[in-house]
Amino acid sequence: MTQSIHVQIPATSANVGSGFDAVGIALTLYNEIYFTEEANKDHITIEIEGLGKDEIPTIFENNMVGQAMKAAAVKNRQPLPTGGHLKLINRIPPARGLGSSSAALVGGLMIGNALTGNKMSQQDMLSLATSLEGHPDNVAPAICGGLSVSIMVDGKTMTNSILMGQDISFIVVSPQIEVATEEARRALPKTIDYQSAVFNVSRVSFLVSALFTKQYDRIFYGLQDKLHVPYRIRLIPGGEEVLKAAVRAGALGSTISGSGSTLLAFATTDEEKIMNAMIHCFKDHGLESVGHVLKCTNEGAKIIP
Ligand code: HSE
Repeated sequence: MTQSIHVQIPATSANVGSGFDAVGIALTLYNEIYFTEEANKDHITIEIEGLGKDEIPTIFENNMVGQAMKAAAVKNRQPLPTGGHLKLINRIPPARGLGSSSAALVGGLMIGNALTGNKMSQQDMLSLATSLEGHPDNVAPAICGGLSVSIMVDGKTMTNSILMGQDISFIVVSPQIEVATEEARRALPKTIDYQSAVFNVSRVSFLVSALFTKQYDRIFYGLQDKLHVPYRIRLIPGGEEVLKAAVRAGALGSTISGSGSTLLAFATTDEEKIMNAMIHCFKDHGLESVGHVLKCTNEGAKIIP
């Protein structure tokens, strides 16, 4: 029987200030992937619609969706169909710190798993996606939804996902410059001092507990970070000023989304005003940008029947 699979994967914002490499949120902006088996073909072709259309590889072996499909087939010890067509509908801006590569990997793993016997559990998927991506904080919310807190134990990813209310908005503004994750990781110091470690441990615990208990006026303090934001914000022209402009316009707090260049603000009111203040501030620093007002989705990637 010819197989057809349709997957929807949410954007994610990793780190969330103080939760470097551990915390991430699934957001209501989605990529979709359609796979159709074509028995008369001897390879899988790729068509891309939307963002990154002209930059993302369309050779199956070089594409992250294709690579993840293969990884799922290897894990399940069952071959993929030899012929088929993938249609990628991309709404998550690529290389901007909103989990576009995680979305490709997670989508590819889900399609690959579905085509090769559905043997992988959500736990298998979490660990495999983390090993492909390198960190759990984007793939975990993309798979589980909500606000995900992840740790690595003996090469396995353990994730707790907290359901988030719809009373809080996440404003994301992506400037036209890309910041590659490798470059953003190179900007980090090799070691940090004891006091900075204590600062971050207390801030991230405070952030997660403030969100869980809906004490949203405390988010500002929970987002404070000494591990990555001070080193990376200088890679984003005007970044510091845009973070401040968001708070001046009424945001509860603001930080870098993932490794950038997108900046993220939390709000319960004045969302459009905050987004426009951020866009205008980027413009003052010579950068065009695109903004979205999003919610957290408590549902991770899913196969659409
Ligand atoms: N935690 C990762 C980082 C997320 O900030 O480098 C981006 O992959």
